Parts: sequence; structure tokens; C-alpha cells
Amino acid sequence: MIEPTTTARPQAPAAVFDWLDEAAELRARAGLTRTLRSRPADDPVLDLASNDYLGLTRHPAVTEAAAAAARRWGGGATGSRLVTGTTALHTELEVELADFYGVEAALVFSSGYAANLAALTALTDPDTLIVSDAYNHASLIDGCRLARAQVHRAPHADPAAVARALAERAEPRALVVSDSVFSVDGNAAPLAELSAAARSGGAALLVDDAHGLGVLGPGGRGALVGAGLAGEPDTVATATLSKSLGAQGGAVLGPRRVIRHLVESARTFIFDTGLAPASVGAALGALRLLRAEPERAARAREVAALLAERLTGAGLHASTPDAAVVSVRAPGPEQALAWAADCRTAGLAVGCFRPPSVPDGYSRLRLTARADLTDAQISLAVATLARTAPRP
Ligand SMILES: Cc1ncc(COP(=O)(O)O)c(C=O)c1O
Repeated sequence: MIEPTTTARPQAPAAVFDWLDEAAELRARAGLTRTLRSRPADDPVLDLASNDYLGLTRHPAVTEAAAAAARRWGGGATGSRLVTGTTALHTELEVELADFYGVEAALVFSSGYAANLAALTALTDPDTLIVSDAYNHASLIDGCRLARAQVHRAPHADPAAVARALAERAEPRALVVSDSVFSVDGNAAPLAELSAAARSGGAALLVDDAHGLGVLGPGGRGALVGAGLAGEPDTVATATLSKSLGAQGGAVLGPRRVIRHLVESARTFIFDTGLAPASVGAALGALRLLRAEPERAARAREVAALLAERLTGAGLHASTPDAAVVSVRAPGPEQALAWAADCRTAGLAVGCFRPPSVPDGYSRLRLTARADLTDAQISLAVATLARTAPRP
């Protein structure tokens, strides 16, 4: 975080936000300016920047399900889930998600972000130690900040360090929290080992499966099913409906009593308008499609592996993907930004991750594999990245 140094008290109403200009100037000097670009509906670029891993967001089965849900239930949920915002469609999605994921129950939220805040705040208290992986997603970090628990930041993907933190704690309760697939480099967490560490330390395990649902496990059932941990009494997952499922919204999945507790106590569930019916319909449409076409999950993983292999073959510093995310190192934030811009000019959209979104300070381009990419598109993307790469 870049902190302005201005300390003078503003003398006029027009000056109260002057410090924001200094903050913007500091970000610009560090190469960290962020800008919005609106995406045309018929963008001709080759898209390796979105999280639409299975290529479902524009699938007719998904868009028709969204439209039908909006026509039947309206443009919005009309209220919070506990008041008027739960439709039969929300319940249907929760039942089908729980069944697909192999857990007792699921609860749908207006976003994956809200689902993470809910799980972290409602499943902990001042007598709880949260042991959180250092590379966890920002929504998990914010959940830790909001929780009234003690928080220990554990070294990345280090189950032995987690076990030590649990063994040394004074708090009676503990929650180990990790992404299943880390969103920057696309590496998977050692879930079996984390579960064993949590169990031997008397802790619950919370896994954010945002990048695992739809990609990992048999037929895309997610990282917990893949690790043989779905349905365990001490394990809870969160997920987003906005990546593989091509919709919008989030979910918490786990034991029935955990879900009941969230309904009665999670503030981002109670004080938030329910997920819009169109999004619920879209997620249901995508989930049913994934059940019918489970090969989409394996294809997303295959595309990621091909991308990484060919990028490495082209001399670029690509990560080894465990799911559908591949990253390529850039020398610095400005070069990363320029590289992404050059790719776009050449017809390829890629993500650009710079501090503070990267926990280790290395800027990267982030590529998302999509199940619907052809072999020729993969080669074209690699050739474009190699041609536009910053010279050392
Ligand atoms: C790991 C992870 N968790 C949570 C989220 C938040 O999900 P949503 O975009 O549905 O709020 C994201 C996505 O941005 C993510 O990458």
C-alpha cells in the first residue's frame, strides 16, 4: 500500500480530497495506476483474461436459463435472503450445488467475496485462531481482518508450519484457511496435508475453491472431491459462481449445521440482498451443463498444460499449472503493463497482476485456460506473448 505523506489539515471543502491526488501520483510513479476499460459485447480479441474457464458464460443453455429466471422471478431478488430474497430457484441451486460438491448443504451469496467474509466471520470468535496461508486471496484476507479472531499468517503452502501454529496456540478453537488453487500462479494447495495438520491440531479447515470448482476433481466437482475431503465433518468450502459456472454469486458448502449457523449469523448473508434470479438461473444452467458434459473440466486443465508447455518452449518464465491458471513472469510492474497492452494491440487479452495483488512482489501476466480454446488459438496466444515479450 502506498501511503501519502501529506499531514496538513485541509483548509477548505475543496481540499479534503487533495491527499488522493498525492496517492494517485505515488501509484503512477510506482507503475501501479489502474484504469477501467469497457469491454465491447463483440470484442474480437482472443480472451485469455477472463475467468470463464469452461467457456459457459455465453452458452445458450446458460443465457436462456438466466433470461427465463429473470422473466419468472424478476430483475432482482427484492430483499435479503431472510426476508423476501429466497426464491424456489435459490433453494434448487443450493440443493444441486451441495449434491454436486458432495456435501450436506450449500448456501448461496451475492458474491464469492461475500461468501468468504461470511465463513471467516461466522465460524470464528475471539477464542479462535485463524491460520491463513500467506498467499490467500484478498477476500480471505479481508475476512480475517473482519473476524474478531486472532490471525496467524502461515508461510505459503506449508502444512508443517500450520501444524506448529496450531500446536502452539492458546485459543481453544482454530480454523485453517487456504485457497484450493492460488489465483496468481495457479498452483494447488496441499489439501490432504493441510487437512491432516488441521485435524491433528483440533482445527476446522476452510478451503476457497473459487478456481477449483468446475476444473478440479472428477467432472469438475472441485478440489475437495479431488482430495477426498468433500463431506468431511470438519471441512467447509467456499466457491464463486462467477468463474467456471459463468454466472455471478458465491456459495459456502459444508455440514448442515455450519450452513444453519451462517443463515442465522453471517452478516454478509443477513444484511445483503439475495443473489439476482438471473444469476441463480445462469449458475443452475451451467451446473446442469457441466454434469452433462463433464469432459469440459479435463479440457480446461489440458489447455492450461499446453499453454504452459509452449510458453516455456518459447523461452518464457511460465508457472506449472495445477488447474486452469497460468502465469508468466515480467521483469517489473511497468513492463508487465506494457506487455499486456502490446498483447491487446496484437489481439490477445491477458490479465496483468502487479503489487499489491501479488504476494511476492513479482509482476506477471496471468492467462486463463478455457475449455473451448482450440489448439490453433493456444499456439496463436503463445506466439503473440513471445513476440511482444519485454527484452531483457
Ligand atoms: C480465490 C478467490 N476467492 C474469491 C473470489 C471472489 O469471488 P467473486 O468474484 O464471486 O466475489 C475470487 C475472485 O475474484 C477469487 O479468485
